[in-house]
Amino acid sequence: MRKILGRLSRLIMGTKGSGLPASGEGILRARYETRTPSAQTIADIFEDTWKSRLPNVETSGTVEMFGDRRVDWLAKTLPGGLTGKSVCEIGPFEGYQTLGLSQQGVASITSIEANSFNFLKCLCLKEICKFDATFEFGDGLGFLRETPQHFDLIFASGVLYHLQTPFEFLSAAMAKSDHIYLWTHYYDADVISAHPTVAQHFVPKLDQDFDGGDHSYKMFARSYMIRNYQTSIPAYWEGGLQDITFWVEKEALLDHLRRGGFDNIHIHADTAGKGMPIISLCASRSASVRT
Ligand SMILES: C[S@@+](CC[C@H](N)C(=O)[O-])C[C@H]1O[C@@H](n2cnc3c(N)ncnc32)[C@H](O)[C@@H]1O
Repeated sequence: MRKILGRLSRLIMGTKGSGLPASGEGILRARYETRTPSAQTIADIFEDTWKSRLPNVETSGTVEMFGDRRVDWLAKTLPGGLTGKSVCEIGPFEGYQTLGLSQQGVASITSIEANSFNFLKCLCLKEICKFDATFEFGDGLGFLRETPQHFDLIFASGVLYHLQTPFEFLSAAMAKSDHIYLWTHYYDADVISAHPTVAQHFVPKLDQDFDGGDHSYKMFARSYMIRNYQTSIPAYWEGGLQDITFWVEKEALLDHLRRGGFDNIHIHADTAGKGMPIISLCASRSASVRT
């Protein structure tokens, strides 16, 4: 009965146009749980809004996100491996890479998530899987700018292309670590223009330049195409703080890293990704210029 009522209220509160339920009291409301405590009762707080198939529960999402191979690759690629490292993760979403990093034996993980539902899901996951991580709720760029901490690794998977100021984000990350892991979509005019469903999201009249002083990079405006973004994001959502984000070109991304002294760059993957180009890399500051 609760399931049916939940679905009905979600239909009523539905996000117009996106086909996904809106985040609102229809999705998350105070209720008493009558079953005995279990991993499943925790997962069911966010019933029907998990993307990932969670460990230790019968029902959750359907997509196999746990056992993320990007973390395995990084464990083999990061100089000295992941064991014993202090890690700052930005944008954990449902925490599957956080758990993966923890299983690699890192010394600490501080993970920053700006979406309230995703942050709470991560707390739920922590109790479902009983692992050690500190989740913080807020903007990852603000955190990197303000934290006095220095980390062995900044892990920023799936977040750069959701930002308004991607180059500032990279600069802030480079100031707080000698090693950065990135997985991101990037702008490639030829690939994107060949895929109209991807190209329709780009808004050239809003493109901007990043001013690096003696150089500049073009940034390409992209919209999620959700009207009234702040109040209409769906309950299950992996986007960023604003409707318009700025994508960068691969060469600009690599150049910005190299100018920051991160000239030891291992590329894990570089693909066209169904019209959404993807690069996955680990960049390290040369030992000679480390602080
Ligand atoms: C596409 S998901 C990436 C999930 C996972 N890291 C991965 O690579 O599969 C992006 C996540 O970053 C979060 N996010 C977006 N902008 C952020 C910001 N400025 N600060 C912190 N988290 C952010 C989103 O809410 C979402 O959970």
